Amino acid sequence: MRLLVCGGAGFIGSTFVRQRLLEHGDTVIVLDKLTYAGREENFHDVASDERFRFVRGAIEDPDAVASTLDGGIDAIVNFAAETHVDRSIAEPDAFVRTHALGTYVLLEAARERELRYVQVSTDEVYGSIDVGTFTEDSALRPSSPYSATKTGADLLVQSYFHTYGLRATIVRGSNNYGPYQYPEKLIPLMVLNALHGDALPVYGDGMQVRNWIHCTDFAHAIGHVLAHGDPGEVYNAGGPDEQANIDVVRRIVTLTGASEDQIEHVSDRPGHDRRYSLSSDKVCALGWTPRVRFEDGLAETVAWYRDNAWWWEPIRSGEYRAYYERQYGRALS
Ligand code: NAD
Ligand code: TYD
Repeated sequence: MRLLVCGGAGFIGSTFVRQRLLEHGDTVIVLDKLTYAGREENFHDVASDERFRFVRGAIEDPDAVASTLDGGIDAIVNFAAETHVDRSIAEPDAFVRTHALGTYVLLEAARERELRYVQVSTDEVYGSIDVGTFTEDSALRPSSPYSATKTGADLLVQSYFHTYGLRATIVRGSNNYGPYQYPEKLIPLMVLNALHGDALPVYGDGMQVRNWIHCTDFAHAIGHVLAHGDPGEVYNAGGPDEQANIDVVRRIVTLTGASEDQIEHVSDRPGHDRRYSLSSDKVCALGWTPRVRFEDGLAETVAWYRDNAWWWEPIRSGEYRAYYERQYGRALS
């Protein structure tokens, strides 16, 4: 296949690109704006592949999008997004621009050329659930500017299927973890802070529950929907394990040899969702199944961060320090 992968320089997008090149022999063009979270380093092992091309540009720029589609593309897979809930609370404007305007520009490009389209989305569009699990028919009740704008994008995608017959599908993932995740997110932040002897800032009581999925499993689910999904359908892809944040942090303390004294309960996130949980029966019926259990995936992830300082050192010594100070009111070591 010939794929345009938008947002492919980020954490999950680059995992998907690697799979498509190495496991499927696809031709892949990546269109990515390279925000703080997008990094060409994430392609270090595939950049020389002649079937791979990188274009720096924004999905909300119709000319940039058109320039990537000229050579003939079968499908657009859209990962491009602002992805951090805390940043969406502090500065929501980029979330509206990328998720609303950017998705619209991609949908128009797909409609004009009759391309297939896959929107990568999140369990956060359903909001929080105390007991039970969300299915694709659950009501949409997003609670942060991040999840609200992702929900808006999903609804726009569905409208292009209903109105124009665009062959579009949506895949909603649960919390991802694994290599190449930017250290503003819980797991890489805690791993790097633990390794550096910094405080481990747990929001509120730490009893919020997330449904963890390894990024390779989520990327495979997206590939499965691309190959076998029905146009107009939504597919949830949740991980096999749920875990309270405080237990995740304690596991990281053990795996890194850090001290539990580093754990610090800090002010809770405003509007913090208590629990996410996804039923994945529909995508499993297409033949997908998550392979990585959280206990194993977390140990491998900790080892990857320990062994790949080349990847995170430039982040930890750059703009990220200022972000961290604003967010947590304290400096990194
Ligand atoms: P990420 O923040 O690591 O990467 C996002 C990428 O999008 C970056 O490379 C960034 O440069 C690019 N980007 C942002 N705005 C852009 C724009 N306007 N034009 C072009 N490129 C732009 O994010 P991620 O964790 O890899 O998430 C990828 C997708 O998966 C997102 O759509 C997110 O909502 C979804 N998702 C993430 C998770 C998770 O736990 N990380 C879970 C479920 C779904
Ligand atoms: P995060 O990785 O930001 O993902 P999301 O908000 O999309 O689920 O956070 C995961 C959970 O960890 C969430 O409940 C917030 C919590 N959290 C902390 O307790 N401390 C932190 O420093 C961060 C970044 C997150």
